[in-house]
Amino acid sequence: MVHVLVVDDERSICELLEITFRKDGHRVETATSGEAAKRRLASQFFDIIVSDINIPDMSGVELLRYSREVSPEAVFILITGVPTISTAIDAVNFGADRYVIKGDKLVDELRVAVQKIAEGIELKKESGILRREIRRLTGLDHIIGTSPKMRQIFELIETIAPQSSRVLITGESGTGKELVARAIHENSARSKKPFITINCGAFPETLLESELFGYVKGAFTGANENRRGLFQAADGGTLFMDEVGNMSLTMQVKLYRVLQEGKVRPIGSTEEEDVDVRVIAATNKDIEKEIAEGRFREDLYYRLSVIPIQLPPLRERREDIPLLARTFLERYRTEMSRPIEGIEPKAMQRLEAYEWPGNVRELENTIERAVALETETRVTVEGLPERIVRYYQERRDGSEPVEREVLIPDGGVDLEQQISEIERRYLLAALECSGGVRVRAADLLKMTYRSFRHYAKKHGV
Ligand SMILES: Nc1ncnc2c1ncn2[C@@H]1O[C@H](COP(=O)(O)OP(=O)(O)OP(=O)(O)O)[C@@H](O)[C@H]1O
Ligand SMILES: [Mg+2]
Repeated sequence: MVHVLVVDDERSICELLEITFRKDGHRVETATSGEAAKRRLASQFFDIIVSDINIPDMSGVELLRYSREVSPEAVFILITGVPTISTAIDAVNFGADRYVIKGDKLVDELRVAVQKIAEGIELKKESGILRREIRRLTGLDHIIGTSPKMRQIFELIETIAPQSSRVLITGESGTGKELVARAIHENSARSKKPFITINCGAFPETLLESELFGYVKGAFTGANENRRGLFQAADGGTLFMDEVGNMSLTMQVKLYRVLQEGKVRPIGSTEEEDVDVRVIAATNKDIEKEIAEGRFREDLYYRLSVIPIQLPPLRERREDIPLLARTFLERYRTEMSRPIEGIEPKAMQRLEAYEWPGNVRELENTIERAVALETETRVTVEGLPERIVRYYQERRDGSEPVEREVLIPDGGVDLEQQISEIERRYLLAALECSGGVRVRAADLLKMTYRSFRHYAKKHGV
Protein backbone atom coordinates (compact mmCIF):
# COMPACT_ATOMS: atom_id res chain seq x y z
CA MET A 1 0.00 0.00 0.00
CA VAL A 2 1.41 3.36 -1.00
CA HIS A 3 0.40 7.01 -0.84
CA VAL A 4 -0.47 8.44 -4.25
CA LEU A 5 -1.11 12.01 -5.38
CA VAL A 6 -3.10 12.40 -8.59
CA VAL A 7 -2.89 15.77 -10.34
CA ASP A 8 -5.12 16.56 -13.28
CA ASP A 9 -7.33 19.53 -14.03
CA GLU A 10 -10.07 17.22 -15.28
CA ARG A 11 -11.97 16.27 -12.18
CA SER A 12 -13.39 13.14 -13.85
CA ILE A 13 -9.91 11.75 -14.46
CA CYS A 14 -8.94 12.48 -10.89
CA GLU A 15 -11.98 10.64 -9.62
CA LEU A 16 -11.52 7.69 -11.93
CA LEU A 17 -7.91 7.24 -10.90
CA GLU A 18 -8.74 7.76 -7.27
CA ILE A 19 -11.30 4.95 -7.34
CA THR A 20 -8.97 2.67 -9.25
CA PHE A 21 -5.99 3.12 -6.95
CA ARG A 22 -8.15 2.95 -3.83
CA LYS A 23 -9.50 -0.40 -4.99
CA ASP A 24 -5.96 -1.66 -5.13
CA GLY A 25 -5.54 -0.67 -1.53
CA HIS A 26 -3.59 2.57 -1.90
CA ARG A 27 -4.10 5.85 -0.11
CA VAL A 28 -5.00 8.47 -2.69
CA GLU A 29 -5.31 12.24 -2.78
CA THR A 30 -6.14 14.40 -5.73
CA ALA A 31 -5.43 17.95 -6.84
CA THR A 32 -6.96 19.74 -9.79
CA SER A 33 -4.41 22.51 -10.02
CA GLY A 34 -0.66 22.85 -9.74
CA GLU A 35 -0.95 25.15 -6.77
CA ALA A 36 -3.16 22.72 -4.88
CA ALA A 37 -0.71 19.93 -5.70
CA LYS A 38 2.20 21.97 -4.38
CA ARG A 39 0.42 22.62 -1.13
CA ARG A 40 -0.23 18.90 -0.71
CA LEU A 41 3.38 18.11 -1.47
CA ALA A 42 4.60 20.65 1.01
CA SER A 43 2.67 19.13 3.84
CA GLN A 44 2.65 15.36 3.27
CA PHE A 45 4.78 12.46 2.15
CA PHE A 46 3.81 10.77 -1.11
CA ASP A 47 5.32 7.65 -2.59
CA ILE A 48 4.01 8.23 -6.09
CA ILE A 49 2.88 11.34 -7.93
CA VAL A 50 0.83 10.95 -11.09
CA SER A 51 0.49 14.22 -12.93
CA ASP A 52 -0.79 15.45 -16.25
CA ILE A 53 1.84 17.35 -18.16
CA ASN A 54 -0.68 20.12 -18.86
CA ILE A 55 -2.21 21.62 -15.79
CA PRO A 56 -3.65 25.08 -16.35
CA ASP A 57 -1.67 27.06 -13.80
CA MET A 58 1.69 25.44 -14.32
CA SER A 59 3.35 22.79 -16.42
CA GLY A 60 3.69 19.28 -15.12
CA VAL A 61 7.41 19.68 -15.57
CA GLU A 62 7.41 22.58 -13.16
CA LEU A 63 5.49 20.52 -10.65
CA LEU A 64 7.97 17.72 -11.18
CA ARG A 65 10.82 20.05 -10.38
CA TYR A 66 9.09 21.22 -7.25
CA SER A 67 8.39 17.68 -6.11
CA ARG A 68 12.04 16.79 -6.57
CA GLU A 69 12.89 19.60 -4.24
CA VAL A 70 10.50 18.81 -1.42
CA SER A 71 10.10 15.08 -1.85
CA PRO A 72 13.10 13.71 -3.73
CA GLU A 73 12.25 10.06 -3.09
CA ALA A 74 8.77 10.10 -4.62
CA VAL A 75 8.29 8.36 -7.97
CA PHE A 76 6.92 10.77 -10.56
CA ILE A 77 4.72 9.59 -13.43
CA LEU A 78 3.94 12.15 -16.08
CA ILE A 79 0.83 11.78 -18.23
CA THR A 80 1.46 13.26 -21.64
CA GLY A 81 -1.17 14.08 -24.19
CA VAL A 82 0.22 13.82 -27.67
CA PRO A 83 2.94 11.26 -27.99
CA THR A 84 5.61 13.48 -29.44
CA ILE A 85 9.26 12.70 -29.10
CA SER A 86 9.93 16.05 -27.55
CA THR A 87 7.52 15.63 -24.62
CA ALA A 88 8.97 12.23 -23.97
CA ILE A 89 12.45 13.66 -24.00
CA ASP A 90 11.38 16.52 -21.80
CA ALA A 91 9.80 14.16 -19.35
CA VAL A 92 12.90 12.06 -19.10
CA ASN A 93 15.25 15.00 -19.09
CA PHE A 94 13.44 16.59 -16.25
CA GLY A 95 13.69 13.41 -14.31
CA ALA A 96 10.20 11.94 -14.52
CA ASP A 97 10.54 8.29 -13.63
CA ARG A 98 7.97 7.30 -16.20
CA TYR A 99 5.56 8.77 -18.66
CA VAL A 100 2.24 7.36 -19.80
CA ILE A 101 0.36 8.53 -22.85
CA LYS A 102 -3.21 9.68 -22.46
CA GLY A 103 -5.52 7.37 -24.37
CA ASP A 104 -8.05 4.58 -24.01
CA LYS A 105 -5.72 2.45 -21.98
CA LEU A 106 -4.62 5.23 -19.66
CA VAL A 107 -6.23 3.84 -16.53
CA ASP A 108 -5.02 0.30 -17.09
CA GLU A 109 -1.52 1.40 -17.87
CA LEU A 110 -1.35 3.64 -14.84
CA ARG A 111 -2.76 0.93 -12.67
CA VAL A 112 -0.10 -1.55 -13.71
CA ALA A 113 2.61 1.07 -13.35
CA VAL A 114 1.51 2.08 -9.86
CA GLN A 115 1.18 -1.53 -8.80
CA LYS A 116 4.70 -2.34 -9.95
CA ILE A 117 6.16 0.71 -8.29
CA ALA A 118 4.27 -0.07 -5.11
CA GLU A 119 5.75 -3.56 -5.00
CA GLY A 120 9.20 -2.11 -5.52
CA ILE A 121 8.61 0.38 -2.74
CA GLU A 122 7.48 -2.36 -0.37
CA LEU A 123 10.65 -4.29 -1.09
CA LYS A 124 12.75 -1.21 -0.68
CA LYS A 125 11.04 -0.42 2.59
CA GLU A 126 11.98 -3.83 3.89
CA SER A 127 15.61 -3.57 2.87
CA GLY A 128 15.46 0.10 3.82
CA ILE A 129 14.88 -0.89 7.40
CA LEU A 130 18.18 -2.67 7.30
CA ARG A 131 19.93 0.19 5.60
CA ARG A 132 18.46 2.68 8.01
CA GLU A 133 19.61 0.54 10.87
CA ILE A 134 23.15 0.77 9.56
CA ARG A 135 22.90 4.49 8.91
CA ARG A 136 21.40 5.00 12.32
CA LEU A 137 24.58 3.63 13.74
CA THR A 138 26.60 6.09 11.73
CA GLY A 139 24.67 8.94 13.24
CA LEU A 140 24.29 11.37 10.37
CA ASP A 141 20.93 9.93 9.50
CA HIS A 142 19.51 11.47 12.65
CA ILE A 143 20.41 14.98 11.69
CA ILE A 144 17.83 16.34 9.34
CA GLY A 145 18.36 19.32 7.13
CA THR A 146 18.58 20.26 3.48
CA SER A 147 19.35 23.96 3.89
CA PRO A 148 22.71 25.12 2.57
CA LYS A 149 23.80 25.88 6.12
CA MET A 150 23.10 22.37 7.32
CA ARG A 151 24.64 20.82 4.22
CA GLN A 152 27.85 22.64 5.01
CA ILE A 153 27.73 21.24 8.50
CA PHE A 154 27.25 17.69 7.24
CA GLU A 155 30.27 18.09 5.03
CA LEU A 156 32.29 19.49 7.86
CA ILE A 157 31.30 16.59 10.12
CA GLU A 158 32.29 14.05 7.52
CA THR A 159 35.65 15.72 6.97
CA ILE A 160 36.65 16.19 10.55
CA ALA A 161 35.12 13.10 12.14
CA PRO A 162 37.95 10.71 11.25
CA GLN A 163 40.61 12.93 12.79
CA SER A 164 40.96 13.18 16.52
CA SER A 165 41.05 16.94 16.77
CA ARG A 166 38.98 18.62 19.42
CA VAL A 167 35.73 20.27 18.42
CA LEU A 168 33.82 23.10 20.01
CA ILE A 169 30.16 23.21 19.06
CA THR A 170 28.31 26.43 19.69
CA GLY A 171 24.66 27.22 19.08
CA GLU A 172 21.48 28.18 20.85
CA SER A 173 19.63 25.69 22.98
CA GLY A 174 17.91 22.98 20.94
CA THR A 175 19.91 23.45 17.73
CA GLY A 176 21.26 19.89 17.83
CA LYS A 177 24.66 20.23 19.46
CA GLU A 178 24.52 16.85 21.13
CA LEU A 179 23.28 15.24 17.94
CA VAL A 180 26.27 16.62 16.07
CA ALA A 181 28.71 15.51 18.77
CA ARG A 182 27.34 11.99 18.56
CA ALA A 183 27.53 11.99 14.76
CA ILE A 184 31.20 12.99 14.93
CA HIS A 185 31.91 10.14 17.30
CA GLU A 186 29.96 7.59 15.27
CA ASN A 187 31.81 8.56 12.11
CA SER A 188 35.24 8.34 13.69
CA ALA A 189 37.62 5.46 14.23
CA ARG A 190 36.67 5.70 17.90
CA SER A 191 33.08 4.64 17.28
CA LYS A 192 33.56 1.23 18.89
CA LYS A 193 34.86 2.88 22.04
CA PRO A 194 32.71 4.79 24.52
CA PHE A 195 30.95 8.07 23.88
CA ILE A 196 30.48 9.65 27.28
CA THR A 197 28.50 12.77 28.00
CA ILE A 198 28.89 15.07 30.94
CA ASN A 199 26.93 18.21 31.60
CA CYS A 200 29.52 20.47 33.16
CA GLY A 201 26.88 22.96 34.18
CA ALA A 202 25.08 20.44 36.35
CA PHE A 203 27.84 19.85 38.93
CA PRO A 204 29.34 21.99 41.67
CA GLU A 205 33.08 22.41 41.21
CA THR A 206 34.48 19.68 43.49
CA LEU A 207 31.98 17.14 42.28
CA LEU A 208 32.77 17.93 38.68
CA GLU A 209 36.45 17.38 39.34
CA SER A 210 35.91 13.96 40.87
CA GLU A 211 33.48 13.03 38.09
CA LEU A 212 35.98 13.97 35.42
CA PHE A 213 39.24 12.75 36.90
CA GLY A 214 38.20 10.22 39.59
CA TYR A 215 39.69 9.92 43.08
CA VAL A 216 41.62 7.53 45.27
CA LYS A 217 40.45 5.99 48.48
CA GLY A 218 40.74 8.43 51.37
CA ALA A 219 41.08 11.52 49.17
CA PHE A 220 38.21 13.13 51.04
CA THR A 221 35.52 12.10 53.51
CA GLY A 222 33.29 9.61 51.83
CA ALA A 223 35.94 8.46 49.34
CA ASN A 224 35.80 4.87 50.54
CA GLU A 225 37.38 3.35 47.48
CA ASN A 226 39.24 4.27 44.32
CA ARG A 227 37.04 5.57 41.57
CA ARG A 228 37.77 6.14 37.93
CA GLY A 229 36.81 9.41 36.34
CA LEU A 230 35.01 9.91 33.05
CA PHE A 231 38.28 10.70 31.28
CA GLN A 232 39.56 7.25 32.16
CA ALA A 233 36.22 5.66 31.29
CA ALA A 234 36.24 7.33 27.88
CA ASP A 235 39.77 6.14 27.09
CA GLY A 236 40.05 5.48 23.36
CA GLY A 237 36.68 7.13 22.78
CA THR A 238 35.04 10.52 22.98
CA LEU A 239 34.09 12.70 25.95
CA PHE A 240 31.31 15.16 25.20
CA MET A 241 31.57 18.06 27.62
CA ASP A 242 28.27 19.89 27.43
CA GLU A 243 27.73 23.39 28.86
CA VAL A 244 31.46 23.86 29.08
CA GLY A 245 30.85 27.61 29.38
CA ASN A 246 29.43 27.08 32.85
CA MET A 247 32.63 25.66 34.30
CA SER A 248 34.34 27.57 37.10
CA LEU A 249 37.66 29.27 36.37
CA THR A 250 39.59 26.88 38.63
CA MET A 251 38.14 23.87 36.82
CA GLN A 252 39.02 25.53 33.55
CA VAL A 253 42.67 25.62 34.60
CA LYS A 254 42.58 21.95 35.55
CA LEU A 255 40.94 20.96 32.30
CA TYR A 256 43.45 23.01 30.34
CA ARG A 257 46.30 21.04 31.91
CA VAL A 258 44.71 17.71 31.11
CA LEU A 259 44.20 18.72 27.51
CA GLN A 260 47.74 19.98 27.20
CA GLU A 261 49.43 16.98 28.73
CA GLY A 262 47.04 14.18 27.86
CA LYS A 263 47.35 12.98 31.45
CA VAL A 264 44.84 12.84 34.27
CA ARG A 265 45.55 12.86 38.00
CA PRO A 266 42.71 11.49 40.17
CA ILE A 267 41.98 13.55 43.29
CA GLY A 268 44.28 12.53 46.14
CA SER A 269 46.62 10.60 43.88
CA THR A 270 50.24 11.40 43.17
CA GLU A 271 50.32 9.48 39.93
CA GLU A 272 49.18 10.69 36.56
CA GLU A 273 47.50 8.39 34.09
CA ASP A 274 47.77 8.63 30.32
CA VAL A 275 44.43 8.97 28.59
CA ASP A 276 43.59 9.02 24.92
CA VAL A 277 40.32 10.89 24.71
CA ARG A 278 38.83 13.08 22.04
CA VAL A 279 37.10 15.98 23.70
CA ILE A 280 34.08 17.54 22.03
CA ALA A 281 32.78 20.53 23.95
CA ALA A 282 29.56 22.46 23.54
CA THR A 283 28.07 25.64 24.85
CA ASN A 284 25.07 27.81 24.16
CA LYS A 285 26.84 30.85 25.55
CA ASP A 286 28.49 33.51 23.46
CA ILE A 287 31.95 32.31 24.32
CA GLU A 288 33.77 35.32 22.97
CA LYS A 289 31.75 37.53 25.22
CA GLU A 290 32.52 35.22 28.13
CA ILE A 291 36.21 35.61 27.37
CA ALA A 292 35.97 39.37 27.05
CA GLU A 293 34.22 39.55 30.39
CA GLY A 294 36.73 37.31 32.11
CA ARG A 295 34.51 34.29 32.71
CA PHE A 296 36.18 31.98 30.26
CA ARG A 297 39.91 31.43 29.83
CA GLU A 298 41.17 32.28 26.41
CA ASP A 299 43.88 29.62 26.48
CA LEU A 300 41.32 26.91 27.20
CA TYR A 301 39.13 28.26 24.43
CA TYR A 302 41.95 27.81 21.90
CA ARG A 303 42.63 24.31 23.18
CA LEU A 304 39.00 23.32 22.83
CA SER A 305 38.08 24.95 19.58
CA VAL A 306 40.61 23.44 17.23
CA ILE A 307 37.59 22.93 15.01
CA PRO A 308 34.69 25.24 15.76
CA ILE A 309 31.22 24.29 14.57
CA GLN A 310 28.51 26.86 14.84
CA LEU A 311 24.98 25.56 14.56
CA PRO A 312 22.61 28.14 13.12
CA PRO A 313 19.31 28.79 14.91
CA LEU A 314 16.28 27.29 13.19
CA ARG A 315 14.90 30.71 12.21
CA GLU A 316 17.97 31.15 9.99
CA ARG A 317 17.22 27.96 8.07
CA ARG A 318 13.45 27.98 7.85
CA GLU A 319 13.57 25.84 4.72
CA ASP A 320 14.40 22.90 7.02
CA ILE A 321 11.14 23.30 8.91
CA PRO A 322 8.79 21.29 6.61
CA LEU A 323 11.07 18.28 6.46
CA LEU A 324 11.79 18.36 10.18
CA ALA A 325 8.10 18.75 10.97
CA ARG A 326 7.10 15.86 8.74
CA THR A 327 9.83 13.64 10.12
CA PHE A 328 8.74 14.30 13.68
CA LEU A 329 5.16 13.70 12.60
CA GLU A 330 6.09 10.31 11.16
CA ARG A 331 8.01 9.46 14.31
CA TYR A 332 5.31 10.38 16.79
CA ARG A 333 2.32 9.14 14.87
CA THR A 334 4.01 5.74 14.65
CA GLU A 335 5.06 5.83 18.26
CA MET A 336 1.62 6.79 19.51
CA SER A 337 -0.29 4.90 16.79
CA ARG A 338 -2.30 7.98 15.92
CA PRO A 339 -4.00 8.28 12.54
CA ILE A 340 -2.54 11.69 11.72
CA GLU A 341 -1.59 11.75 8.07
CA GLY A 342 -0.05 15.12 7.50
CA ILE A 343 0.11 18.77 8.32
CA GLU A 344 -2.51 21.10 6.94
CA PRO A 345 -0.89 23.73 4.65
CA LYS A 346 -2.12 26.57 6.83
CA ALA A 347 -0.59 24.99 9.88
CA MET A 348 2.68 24.46 8.02
CA GLN A 349 2.65 28.14 7.09
CA ARG A 350 2.48 29.05 10.77
CA LEU A 351 5.28 26.66 11.62
CA GLU A 352 7.46 28.10 8.90
CA ALA A 353 6.86 31.67 9.96
CA TYR A 354 7.50 31.21 13.68
CA GLU A 355 10.75 32.36 15.27
CA TRP A 356 11.48 29.15 17.27
CA PRO A 357 13.44 30.46 20.26
CA GLY A 358 13.78 26.84 21.45
CA ASN A 359 14.88 25.77 17.95
CA VAL A 360 14.49 22.15 16.77
CA ARG A 361 13.67 20.89 20.25
CA GLU A 362 10.72 23.28 20.42
CA LEU A 363 9.55 22.20 16.97
CA GLU A 364 9.80 18.55 17.96
CA ASN A 365 7.80 19.15 21.13
CA THR A 366 5.21 21.12 19.19
CA ILE A 367 4.66 18.28 16.74
CA GLU A 368 4.62 15.66 19.46
CA ARG A 369 1.94 17.61 21.31
CA ALA A 370 -0.06 18.20 18.14
CA VAL A 371 -0.01 14.50 17.27
CA ALA A 372 -1.17 13.61 20.76
CA LEU A 373 -4.00 16.13 20.87
CA GLU A 374 -5.19 16.49 17.28
CA THR A 375 -8.79 15.44 16.71
CA GLU A 376 -8.65 15.73 12.92
CA THR A 377 -6.64 13.41 10.70
CA ARG A 378 -4.17 16.18 10.00
CA VAL A 379 -2.36 18.65 12.16
CA THR A 380 -4.45 21.81 11.97
CA VAL A 381 -3.87 25.41 13.03
CA GLU A 382 -6.11 24.73 16.04
CA GLY A 383 -3.75 21.97 17.10
CA LEU A 384 -0.79 24.33 17.34
CA PRO A 385 0.19 26.18 20.51
CA GLU A 386 -1.27 29.64 20.75
CA ARG A 387 2.06 31.48 20.74
CA ILE A 388 2.84 30.13 17.28
CA VAL A 389 -0.51 31.12 15.84
CA ARG A 390 -0.39 34.51 17.52
CA TYR A 391 3.10 35.19 16.23
CA TYR A 392 1.90 34.66 12.69
CA GLN A 393 -1.14 36.86 13.23
CA GLU A 394 0.83 39.72 14.71
CA ARG A 395 3.45 39.71 12.05
CA ARG A 396 0.89 39.73 9.32
CA ASP A 397 -1.04 42.57 10.85
CA GLY A 398 2.20 44.43 11.41
CA SER A 399 3.19 44.14 7.79
CA GLU A 400 -0.21 45.07 6.38
CA PRO A 401 0.83 47.46 3.64
CA VAL A 402 -2.54 48.78 2.52
CA GLU A 403 -4.65 51.27 4.42
CA ARG A 404 -8.17 49.99 4.65
CA GLU A 405 -9.69 53.36 3.87
CA VAL A 406 -8.78 54.83 0.54
CA LEU A 407 -7.96 58.52 0.54
CA ILE A 408 -7.06 60.45 -2.56
CA PRO A 409 -4.74 63.34 -1.77
CA ASP A 410 -5.43 66.78 -3.30
CA GLY A 411 -2.85 66.41 -6.01
CA GLY A 412 -4.24 63.02 -7.08
CA VAL A 413 -2.45 59.71 -6.87
CA ASP A 414 -0.42 57.59 -9.26
CA LEU A 415 -2.32 54.31 -8.97
CA GLU A 416 0.12 52.31 -11.09
CA GLN A 417 2.94 53.32 -8.86
CA GLN A 418 0.96 52.57 -5.71
CA ILE A 419 0.12 49.11 -6.93
CA SER A 420 3.66 48.49 -7.95
CA GLU A 421 4.81 49.43 -4.47
CA ILE A 422 2.29 47.06 -2.93
CA GLU A 423 3.50 44.25 -5.17
CA ARG A 424 7.04 44.88 -4.13
CA ARG A 425 6.22 44.84 -0.44
CA TYR A 426 4.24 41.64 -0.67
CA LEU A 427 7.08 40.03 -2.57
CA LEU A 428 9.59 40.99 0.09
CA ALA A 429 7.28 39.90 2.90
CA ALA A 430 6.71 36.51 1.24
CA LEU A 431 10.42 36.03 0.74
CA GLU A 432 11.00 36.79 4.37
CA CYS A 433 8.31 34.38 5.53
CA SER A 434 9.72 31.65 3.32
CA GLY A 435 13.27 32.16 4.49
CA GLY A 436 14.24 33.23 0.98
CA VAL A 437 12.97 30.08 -0.75
CA ARG A 438 11.37 31.38 -3.91
CA VAL A 439 9.08 28.46 -4.70
CA ARG A 440 7.60 28.81 -1.25
CA ALA A 441 7.28 32.55 -1.51
CA ALA A 442 5.40 32.03 -4.77
CA ASP A 443 3.19 29.55 -2.96
CA LEU A 444 2.38 32.03 -0.24
CA LEU A 445 1.35 34.59 -2.83
CA LYS A 446 -0.71 31.97 -4.64
CA MET A 447 1.15 32.48 -7.87
CA THR A 448 3.20 30.20 -10.05
CA TYR A 449 6.92 30.19 -9.68
CA ARG A 450 7.14 31.66 -13.14
CA SER A 451 4.94 34.65 -12.29
CA PHE A 452 6.90 35.09 -9.11
CA ARG A 453 10.12 35.27 -11.07
CA HIS A 454 8.56 37.80 -13.37
CA TYR A 455 7.60 40.08 -10.48
CA ALA A 456 10.89 39.55 -8.70
CA LYS A 457 12.73 40.65 -11.80
CA LYS A 458 10.44 43.59 -12.31
CA HIS A 459 11.10 44.84 -8.80
CA GLY A 460 14.70 43.79 -8.65
CA VAL A 461 14.33 41.69 -5.51
N1 LIG B 1 18.82 18.68 12.62
C1 LIG B 1 18.08 17.92 13.43
N2 LIG B 1 17.42 16.85 12.95
C2 LIG B 1 16.66 16.07 13.75
N3 LIG B 1 16.49 16.27 15.05
C3 LIG B 1 17.12 17.31 15.61
C4 LIG B 1 17.95 18.18 14.83
N4 LIG B 1 18.45 19.12 15.65
C5 LIG B 1 17.96 18.86 16.87
N5 LIG B 1 17.16 17.77 16.87
C6 LIG B 1 16.43 17.21 18.01
O1 LIG B 1 16.13 18.30 18.87
C7 LIG B 1 16.38 17.96 20.22
C8 LIG B 1 17.47 18.86 20.78
O2 LIG B 1 18.72 18.55 20.21
P1 LIG B 1 20.07 18.56 21.07
O3 LIG B 1 19.84 17.97 22.42
O4 LIG B 1 21.16 17.98 20.25
O5 LIG B 1 20.23 20.13 21.21
P2 LIG B 1 21.32 20.97 21.99
O6 LIG B 1 21.85 21.95 21.02
O7 LIG B 1 22.26 20.04 22.66
O8 LIG B 1 20.41 21.74 23.06
P3 LIG B 1 20.82 22.26 24.54
O9 LIG B 1 21.79 23.39 24.36
O10 LIG B 1 19.51 22.73 25.07
O11 LIG B 1 21.38 21.08 25.25
C9 LIG B 1 16.76 16.50 20.23
O12 LIG B 1 15.62 15.72 20.49
C10 LIG B 1 17.27 16.26 18.83
O13 LIG B 1 17.07 14.92 18.47
MG1 LIG C 1 22.50 19.59 24.67
